Amino acid sequence: MRIVDALGATLAGLSVIAAATAYGQAGTPSQYGATTAAVVDDKGNMRVPADYRTSYQMLGTWAVAADGKPGSKEMHVVYATPGTIAAYRKDGHFPDGTVLVKEVFKTATKPMTTGTVSSADTLAGWFIMVKDDVGRFPENKLWGDGWGWAWFDAADPKKTTSTDYKKDCQACHIPAKASDWIYTHGYPPLK
Ligand code: HEC
Repeated sequence: MRIVDALGATLAGLSVIAAATAYGQAGTPSQYGATTAAVVDDKGNMRVPADYRTSYQMLGTWAVAADGKPGSKEMHVVYATPGTIAAYRKDGHFPDGTVLVKEVFKTATKPMTTGTVSSADTLAGWFIMVKDDVGRFPENKLWGDGWGWAWFDAADPKKTTSTDYKKDCQACHIPAKASDWIYTHGYPPLK
């Protein structure tokens, strides 16, 4: 009898925890599961995930050539939430809740034993995109066309300086519209 009581209490406790997980602080339903909820609050405000370098998957890098001299002036390193690579390989889509992080580095370029080499130096900041298949935040100007979009200066990973993705981001991503606005050809693990 006691074991049954203890089991009942445990189950009741678990359902309280589950309810707390499913509902955000404002009492509104949480819009995403745990990994994505750490990046997006219930109003659609985004932040840079604290642990992306250790827990996310690396998709690839971009080197932006320096003007009129050898080497690259910027390097971009792109990460995605755990599970993105396997899911994308299965059906060619980024699943709802996928978070993409693009680091933007200024570089240092010097001769090395392999040639003239640029390496990541100062971090300028991050571009973040969060996949949204259901149109969760129709009032928020950083959300639309299936994604949340935001830039963060290196000084403040918690508060974006972007105000409107249509002005701040979208025009530059039109060449990638057919691949869900993402430049997928730069990411070997997705192939
Ligand atoms: C000047 C043009 C330009 C602007 C403005 C721009 N992007 Fe991009 N973005 C690109 C290009 C080109 C790439 C891939 C090549 C690279 O990184 O150099 C890219 C890549 C990305 C990636 C990596 C995933 C991918 O699409 O390959 C993310 C995430 C991203 N951008 C988010 C944003 C967000 C969010 C904004 C607005 C706050 C934004 N971008 C504004 C041109 C731009």
